[in-house]
Amino acid sequence: MSLTRITLSNVRLYQQQEIEPDSNLNIVYGGNASGKTSLLEAINILGTGRSFRGTQINPIIRHGTDSLTVIGEVRAQSDRLPTMLAVQVDQDGRQLSIDKQKRSKISELAQHLPLLIISPDSHFQFHQKSRARRAVMDWSLFHVEPDFGDIWNRYQRAIQQRNAALKDPKQRKIMYSWDPEVADLGRRIQEFRSSEIEKLSSIFSEIAGHLLDDTSGFGLKLESGWDCGRGLDICLLDDRRRDLERGITHSGPHRNDIQLLVAGNPAEDEASHGQNKLLLIALRLAQIKRLRSATNKNCCLLIDDLPAELDFEHRQKLSHFLSTMQVQVFITTTDRNAISTDSWPSCSLFHVEHGTIKRQ
Ligand SMILES: Nc1ncnc2c1ncn2[C@@H]1O[C@H](COP(=O)(O)OP(=O)(O)O)[C@@H](O)[C@H]1O
Ligand SMILES: [Mg+2]
Repeated sequence: MSLTRITLSNVRLYQQQEIEPDSNLNIVYGGNASGKTSLLEAINILGTGRSFRGTQINPIIRHGTDSLTVIGEVRAQSDRLPTMLAVQVDQDGRQLSIDKQKRSKISELAQHLPLLIISPDSHFQFHQKSRARRAVMDWSLFHVEPDFGDIWNRYQRAIQQRNAALKDPKQRKIMYSWDPEVADLGRRIQEFRSSEIEKLSSIFSEIAGHLLDDTSGFGLKLESGWDCGRGLDICLLDDRRRDLERGITHSGPHRNDIQLLVAGNPAEDEASHGQNKLLLIALRLAQIKRLRSATNKNCCLLIDDLPAELDFEHRQKLSHFLSTMQVQVFITTTDRNAISTDSWPSCSLFHVEHGTIKRQ
């Protein structure tokens, strides 16, 4: 799978631009504020409907205009006709289409264009926020487990209803009526996550060992969202008093967490910023490998400012490893020579300046 054409209109500083990316490596280079990150943002909107900078999408609409559009042609295989994905955003919301047919769910676009973004602050977010760690882990589940999305949505609804009832004296009578559903869906979500983390752990260990040139052994560990010695149903029952006092549900998979381990110890305790960045990249690459083995689908990988915090040797090692993965990659950098392209079967270089993209 690869993006063969991208057209963007009114995305941040871009008025109208069209590029035909390479199916392997795309290096996007240019000075500060030239529009490198905005291009990745536009691609990200196609596969996720969202920006990766902040939660609001409206600031991405070009100043002085009312709506933005991103259109992408995705080829599942080189001998197949491309599928056309389009996202339009205006003040009223987001309109999606596939081959000009309106769609309502962003997951339908994501099926055609699995995307992963690694930005310069991804590893900080990952280490600081358990929500970010769960989002990383669930990316795999949304793509490889067909039932996960539905179970996760139902769990979100049930837990929101339960929490709302805990806070509202008028709903006291029904506040525990959600417990059987929360317990059943919560247990299933944790089982999905636990099984996925186990499968990812060995792939992650191999890639991390290679990228960091370290044989200490790496791993992933899922932390349970409740006291595992007891079932979630029992924990919900035992927690009732403190749940009511605080107006929130204490036990459940919304408390799951994931730890990266180096020689059995949590990575963030010892690793440098550069090492933490490589560890997160190793985890993302493990997820791409797992996606391919489980679904035969490929993924488009966006790496914003790849050189940040990585020395020459690690950049070359990463570039070489990526070139063996048969994945379409977009890398942004201020220095066009920062990444070696020697081992890649093909590569396109794009220079970005004041919102104009030129193929070199
Ligand atoms: N909604 C917008 N409309 C017009 N220009 C914008 C908008 N949002 C951001 N910009 C401009 O886009 C530029 C940032 O582009 P960016 O892609 O972050 O640059 P780079 O990644 O190359 O450093 C800034 O100059 C900023 O002022
Ligand atoms: Mg940038």
